[in-house]
Amino acid sequence: MSRLLGGTLERVCKAVLLLCLLHFLVAVILYFDVYAQHLAFFSRFSARGPSRALHPAASSSTNCSRPNATAPSSGLPEAPSARPGPTAPVLPPCPDSPPGLVGRLLIEFTSPMPLERVQRENPGVLLGGRYTPPDCTPAQTVAVIIPFRHREHHLRYWLHYLHPILRRQRLRYGIYVINQHGEDTFNRAKLLNVGFLEALKEDSTYNCFIFSDVDLVPMDDRNLYRCGDQPRHFAIAMDKFGFRLPYAGYFGGVSGLNKSQFLRINGFPNEYWGWGGEDDDIFNRFTKIQNTKLTMKRDGIGSVRYQVLEVSRQPLFTNITVDIGRPPSWPPRG
Ligand code: BGC
Repeated sequence: MSRLLGGTLERVCKAVLLLCLLHFLVAVILYFDVYAQHLAFFSRFSARGPSRALHPAASSSTNCSRPNATAPSSGLPEAPSARPGPTAPVLPPCPDSPPGLVGRLLIEFTSPMPLERVQRENPGVLLGGRYTPPDCTPAQTVAVIIPFRHREHHLRYWLHYLHPILRRQRLRYGIYVINQHGEDTFNRAKLLNVGFLEALKEDSTYNCFIFSDVDLVPMDDRNLYRCGDQPRHFAIAMDKFGFRLPYAGYFGGVSGLNKSQFLRINGFPNEYWGWGGEDDDIFNRFTKIQNTKLTMKRDGIGSVRYQVLEVSRQPLFTNITVDIGRPPSWPPRG
C-alpha cells in the first residue's frame, strides 16, 4: 500500500515539475515576444493638431523611461562628418549593436519645434540632411525618403526625433523629402519611386532605402533603420492601431528595402492616386499574389514619369519638389 502511495506521489511530483518547466518556457517566450514588439512601437502624429500627445503611453511616466536624447551632449561623437579621404585614418566597421542607444523614448508633439532648434541639436548633420558617423564605417548608406505635401509641422517633429535616433544608430544617411507640387490628388507610392531615383542621382552609393511617412516616429531607438536580407516593415506596432498590425500583410507607414530588393519588384506602383491600397500592392509584389502579379511588370520604377521642379538642400534635409502629373480620368488599376 505504501509503495503504491509512493509511486503515485512520485508521478504527481514529476507532473508538477513538468508543469513548472512548461510555465517557465512560456514565460521566457512571452518575454521575448513583448520585448521585440516594444522595439517596433511607433507613434503617429495626431491629425487633429499639435496640442495632443498621441498615445497615453507616450506621455505616461510608467511607459516611457527616458526622454529622447537630442542634445549634442548625448555622448555622441560630433566631429565633422566627412567621408574619409586618402589620408584619413581607416575607421573600424560600425558595430552591429550600436553603443549609446537609449531604448524607449518619450515622444510628444506639444512643445514648439523651430527648425533652428533641431539644427542646433544636430551639429554633425551636413547640408541636405547628410550624416556619416565620425568614428566608424557603416556597412550601408541609407536614403530615408519621405513623401510630402503641406506637412511642415509634422516634418519639424520628424526631424527633431529622427536625426538623433539615426545618429545614435551609427548610420550613414541622407534625408529626402519628396514634395508633390500642386494640389492634385496625392500619390504616395509614386513619390517614393521618385525619391529612390533622385537619391541615387545624388549619391550612387545608396544601397538601403527607408520609406517613411512624415508623421511616424519610432518610440524606441533599438528599431534600427537598416536594410536586411528581406524587405523590412518597421512600423509593425502603431499607437493608432493599438500597437498591433491592423491585418496580416499590412506594409504601411515605414518600410525598408535594399537596392536590389527594390529593383527586383520593379519598385512601387505609380497608379495609386489618393489614400490607401499602395502599401498592400507593395506587399503583394513580394508575395506575387493577386492582381499585382500582372500589373507590377508594367507599373513601377521602370515606368515612372515625373519632372523635378526644384532641388533645395536645406540644413536638415534635401527637399525635392516634383510634378508627378495627375490621376487619369478612369481608374487604371487592374
Ligand atoms: C489600405 C491601406 C492602409 C490600411 C490601414 C487599408 O484598407 O488599403 O493602404 O494602410 O488600410 O489604414
